Amino acid sequence: MAKPAGSVMERIVALCKRRGFIFQDSEIYGGINGFWDYGPLGVELKRNVREAWWQNMVRAREDMVGLETTIIMHPQVWKASGHFDMFHDMMVDCRECKSRFRADQIVCMHVCQATDETNQALTHGLDALEQFPLGKPLIQLETLLDLSVEASSLGEAVERAEERIGAAAKLHNVSELKKCRIAALESARETKKAIFAVYDKNEIPHFAIAVLLPDCEAENPRACPRCGAQNSLTEPREFNLMFKTYVGAVMDEDAVAYLRPETAQGIFLNFKNVVDSTRIKIPFGIAQIGKSFRNEITPRNFTFRSREFEQMEIEFFCHPSESNKWYEYWRDERMRWYQNLGLASSRLRLREHEKEELSHYSCGTSDIEYAFPFLAEGDFGELEGVAHRGDFDLRSHMEGKLVARDGQLVLDVGPDGKPRWKGSGKDLTYFDPDRKERYIPHVIEPSAGTDRATLAFICEAYTVDESRPSPELMKFHPRLAPIKAAVFPLVNKDGMPEIAEPIYQEIRKRWPAQYDAKASIGKRYARMDEGGTPYCFTIDGQTKQDATVTVRDRDTGQQQRIDKSRCVEYLNDQLGT
Ligand code: GAP
Repeated sequence: MAKPAGSVMERIVALCKRRGFIFQDSEIYGGINGFWDYGPLGVELKRNVREAWWQNMVRAREDMVGLETTIIMHPQVWKASGHFDMFHDMMVDCRECKSRFRADQIVCMHVCQATDETNQALTHGLDALEQFPLGKPLIQLETLLDLSVEASSLGEAVERAEERIGAAAKLHNVSELKKCRIAALESARETKKAIFAVYDKNEIPHFAIAVLLPDCEAENPRACPRCGAQNSLTEPREFNLMFKTYVGAVMDEDAVAYLRPETAQGIFLNFKNVVDSTRIKIPFGIAQIGKSFRNEITPRNFTFRSREFEQMEIEFFCHPSESNKWYEYWRDERMRWYQNLGLASSRLRLREHEKEELSHYSCGTSDIEYAFPFLAEGDFGELEGVAHRGDFDLRSHMEGKLVARDGQLVLDVGPDGKPRWKGSGKDLTYFDPDRKERYIPHVIEPSAGTDRATLAFICEAYTVDESRPSPELMKFHPRLAPIKAAVFPLVNKDGMPEIAEPIYQEIRKRWPAQYDAKASIGKRYARMDEGGTPYCFTIDGQTKQDATVTVRDRDTGQQQRIDKSRCVEYLNDQLGT
């Protein structure tokens, strides 16, 4: 069977629609950008992701409790938390084609181009080097190529790329500048390092590399990346990502409220309630799963960046002196969770943020990242952030909106010296009975997205095996598989359905299962493989003779015979219960 057509991501999106994992929301009306619906298989898969998280992070732990708070909260919450003032993206519009972009994405496009050009040139340079044995006198090589470029040109080219990136970033005034520059320079420097590793520094015919480098200054950073119109982009403007609504019958400014952009704030607001209503003591965490909403300027990459999505967040409260220890613990613990559910370590990585990337309140943040197939080779996208948030959130809800000044968190005050946004004024400190000490706890926040995790599990599961009659299959971890087993009578007659039906009924009391008696057995297996069902039981001619059925493993295609009374037991063994 030939390899299916299209890019990996196109094939995954097509399979998700074909098999009922994920559909475009409001599709019959042309769809609405940034909103997705989960079909019959998708809803089971996402539920399994959510339940695996809740089971491992809440139920299995003695230091964690759960919570469910509302989507709409008092509007003051977002003022004290900083979301009202600071939760925005810079956007630019193209005056010609009316496209809208996030300013940092434009910078990234220019950076990518610059990096590509530099890398391409370096590769050409390397190729050129390979063609000329090092033993050859350099002057001979110079004549051969008719070159006369100085030895420092490689460094110069890197500098030019840096300048261009810098100019674009300055123009768009974005905070992503450092990240982009680091990424671009890293790859250029890596290549440079690689050249030096192969060749003795003094022997490198630098001019061979340098002459092949393109001029990195040519691009106009104001050109629209979509229609190409020159100088068509507007100045960057702030765009708050919170969805606005009105509470009550009168739609005036006093009635304005927001859909939460994260579930975390509901946890901070209830910190005192949880401490007072339970016996839990610090160190402990509060966990919440729920919908969040962000009016993303450019939702994209399937469900990766949506406008309505679900988060699975933990706020873990601890004594300040122990916060670094807990930060490291959660970073590693969360990484293990993904690995245990089948995300391969080569596509999963933990990336500690550079100092420049950290939020003003954060003493450390790591991202757990996955190499999604829609990204360029070698790129990773955020799955989850694990942040050390210090006492920022609880203090904000006590005192009011905080800002960083000279490395300190201070109250944000207006020209009149009064707080710009007040907190609740309530005491959110904690009295530690063991230490006999009152303090504002520090917080470690592992914040995951259910939809993003589900997408990563889908991408990881997607497998093409050209030796199979139907080459696409989903190798979900059995714990996540939407359907755990299928039961088939080989043919829909000869007493086989009569044996298969009770086996199916028995299995479905314990595990999500499907019964299928139609089409050829090959087609039925293929259908289950595409849905990611790990085990298929088939009742055939031999069943009537020796009371055995075949059980087929999705990943290997191998079959074995087991007693027909052992199907549920077999699944319990395989699925770990
Ligand atoms: N409370 C911290 C917080 O919300 P975040 O990095 O903005 O941090 C946490 O979001 C996680 O939520 C992300 O790692 C991602 O998995 C998910 N997430 C954020 N924005 C999303 C979006 N637009 N679409 C889908 N998932 C998103």
